[in-house]
Amino acid sequence: MPVLAVIGAQWGDEGKGKIVDLLAENAHVVARYQGGANAGHEVVVGGTSFILHLVPSGILHKDKINIIGNGVVLDPESFEKEVKDLKKRGIKVAGRLFVSDRAQLTLSLHKQLDAAREGSADGKKIGSTKRGISPTYMDKAGRVGLRPADLNDPAYCRSIIKANLLEKNVLFQKLYGVKPLSAAAVYAEVKRHFASVKPFQADTTVMIHDFVAAGKNILLEGAQGTLLDIDHGTYPYVTASNSTAGGAASGVGLGPTQIGRVMGVCKAYTTRVGEGPFPTEFDPKKSHLVRELGGEYGRTTGRARRCGWLDMVGLRHAVRVNGLTELAITKLDVLDTMDEIGVCVAYKVGSKTLTGFPASVSDLSRAKPVFKMFKGWLSSTKQCRTFASLPKNAQLYLKAVEKMAGTSIGLVSVGADRSETIFVNRKAFDYKF
Ligand code: GDP
Ligand code: IMO
Ligand code: MG
Repeated sequence: MPVLAVIGAQWGDEGKGKIVDLLAENAHVVARYQGGANAGHEVVVGGTSFILHLVPSGILHKDKINIIGNGVVLDPESFEKEVKDLKKRGIKVAGRLFVSDRAQLTLSLHKQLDAAREGSADGKKIGSTKRGISPTYMDKAGRVGLRPADLNDPAYCRSIIKANLLEKNVLFQKLYGVKPLSAAAVYAEVKRHFASVKPFQADTTVMIHDFVAAGKNILLEGAQGTLLDIDHGTYPYVTASNSTAGGAASGVGLGPTQIGRVMGVCKAYTTRVGEGPFPTEFDPKKSHLVRELGGEYGRTTGRARRCGWLDMVGLRHAVRVNGLTELAITKLDVLDTMDEIGVCVAYKVGSKTLTGFPASVSDLSRAKPVFKMFKGWLSSTKQCRTFASLPKNAQLYLKAVEKMAGTSIGLVSVGADRSETIFVNRKAFDYKF
């Protein structure tokens, strides 16, 4: 089964971009399946950094096909800028980057609405990236969204815009006190986007099925992470899409039985950006230390990421809801100087001890982590390229994580660069996924 999905197992920023770029060497196609320009995936190749928001992380390999799937919300303005930047840096995109004709378009009205909702004193602040993600998915579910497939039918576009503004302008004027939008201005924006997206537009569902039929290796690239998933995450402090494995299938138009392997990417500790409960969060001093060691600043918004110990309650939840077949543990090197390393094995909520991930945001906010402590290795792992060459205590830590998670570790990352990786079982990555 040559389809492997790469999924964030925590609150995003686990290093998915690095892992997808690495595995893309053996793949023919890389497809993003959900999210939008809220994602920031950094890929470092030979010391040079690329930050991708919408374009899949396979783009840095010369001969790979890259698909932006139907489950993605595409901001054409951000897309155009990203493509331009890649071209400027010598990356060829023509003929190998495709956008699904079913992807939803993020317009400036969505970004405006996102910012207005986040800024409203009475509203619920989620700490969103203000990239218009939730309003675009709201319009998708509300059946007033536009997709590349719709753009060559002006009458249809106009009717959708009219229906949409009927409601949006009430919000803008009455709730947020901003000027209403004119349908003509929104249509002019849509027309501009048509020109920028059209060269990349394709029926990517047919494309991907043709690749499957031809036995090609396909990587599905997730954005965000399991605990930000709209169904399985820390609702309401989540994003607006299914970042979990079910979303991988629906977001590119594959059936679930066509995905053979599901890899969960997980840091050796945990980070979160934005609002919401985070049971294993460090105190501000320790958070600062790990943030500096790990360069934990958002690649989309530049915000400082909150840091904490690895949360096994969350990771086991990720193993379950994604059906993870393997793990990639990243940023092990960031723990090189810690004399003790904690893993949260359960939550105490009042008098109860929970090992399952609670659905209630108030339970999660009150949850006190129960930690198991491990001895640090106090030496550099950055040069290690085999599991056996890792310091003994690092091996013990990883073996314990593997056992507690109930899923094997396929990869360990010890630095941002493509080369700074340990294939625990090289064979598993040499052949068809
Ligand atoms: P993504 O959103 O899941 O793709 O992750 P981000 O790119 O937002 O954040 C992960 C950050 O850690 C990026 O800056 C990566 O270059 C970097 N990174 C990835 N793996 C490692 C690693 O093993 N060690 C270190 N030190 N940095 C890493
Ligand atoms: P990658 O793909 C980390 C967070 C935001 C906020 C919440 C909702 O780089 O891992 P949204 O703009 O989606 O409505 O914001 O989700 N968030 C992320 N956190 N990594 C991401 O993407 C994220 N994308 C969104 O900070 O808390
Ligand atoms: Mg990121």
